[in-house]
Amino acid sequence: MEFYFAPLVGVTGYVYRNVHRELYPGIEKYFAPFISPNEQGVCKSKEMRDILPKNNEGTKMIPQILTNNVEYFRETAKQLLHFGYEEINLNLGCPSAPLVKRGRGSGFLARREELKYFLEEITKIQGMRLSIKTRLGKDNPEEIYELMKIFNGVPLEELIIHARVQQDFYKNTPNMEVFKEAVAMSRHPICYNGDIFTIEDYHAFVRDCPNVTKVMLGRGLLNTPDMVTKLAYGEETEVPGIRAFHDRIYEVYKQEITGESHILNRMKQFWFYLNHNAIVNNPSWNLVKECDSIEAYDAIVEQVIAAREE
Ligand SMILES: Cc1cc2nc3c(=O)[nH]c(=O)nc-3n(C[C@H](O)[C@H](O)[C@H](O)COP(=O)(O)O)c2cc1C
Repeated sequence: MEFYFAPLVGVTGYVYRNVHRELYPGIEKYFAPFISPNEQGVCKSKEMRDILPKNNEGTKMIPQILTNNVEYFRETAKQLLHFGYEEINLNLGCPSAPLVKRGRGSGFLARREELKYFLEEITKIQGMRLSIKTRLGKDNPEEIYELMKIFNGVPLEELIIHARVQQDFYKNTPNMEVFKEAVAMSRHPICYNGDIFTIEDYHAFVRDCPNVTKVMLGRGLLNTPDMVTKLAYGEETEVPGIRAFHDRIYEVYKQEITGESHILNRMKQFWFYLNHNAIVNNPSWNLVKECDSIEAYDAIVEQVIAAREE
């Protein structure tokens, strides 16, 4: 099995990815959160910073683009190829309403003629391997049948399917039956994504889809950062604990980010996802949420780590 780390905008930036890779081996590819060229076809400097090669040394990272404009894609891809990236991922999954309204992310799935033309054009880019991260459709999972015909018509490195539709956002459960039909139709390698939160979920997935050999994990890994290391190297493998992960990531955020509130926001997010199952109802989470200075954070963090390690 190949394991991929899903992109989560605002969470899995280069600091998170690099520290995770240092401590928890076993991830084949880390997908960077999307960069989206604006109306002038230019990406934000913060987005570019995340994918600069000097910030990703040693980590196998795949940049992701979100656009429905051939020229903007081409311009952004040109920069990425110049940086040395050969695989680029196209985001056809983002469910955010303003983007969807403009036909981007999972909104592009409902404009099939346009999507077909777009893919035919961008797959002509020399030296680039394209992969796609998609949902099953915008409104209805059966949309994937028509979409598969389009995806099968262009050369792709692989197709990552988050087995929901746009209208689900992150609610409801992945549609495994339709996902399996998409696998059967595909001429491209398929990677599964969606709701693998625990080692048991992973084993259930393998039993259900024994012929799928790539999985992408997002929230499950944020909650249990050592999950893939244990799956890849055995459940008895010794791995660094949450304290080591926390301390390293906090140290690097303090070096890389200016502004106390920005550092604190990152740490709050870190705890929000890490805590999710374990202590989201625990008073220590409230302590983190309410911190308004590094001093206050430093004063309570021992307590929070202890609560998570219980
Ligand atoms: C806060 C947040 C940010 C996300 N950002 C991105 C993104 O930038 N690009 C993308 O393709 N998917 C993004 N996703 C979707 C995830 O990559 C993934 O498909 C989704 O969380 C389902 O996988 P999981 O159940 O393993 O978390 C995001 C999801 C969340 C919750």
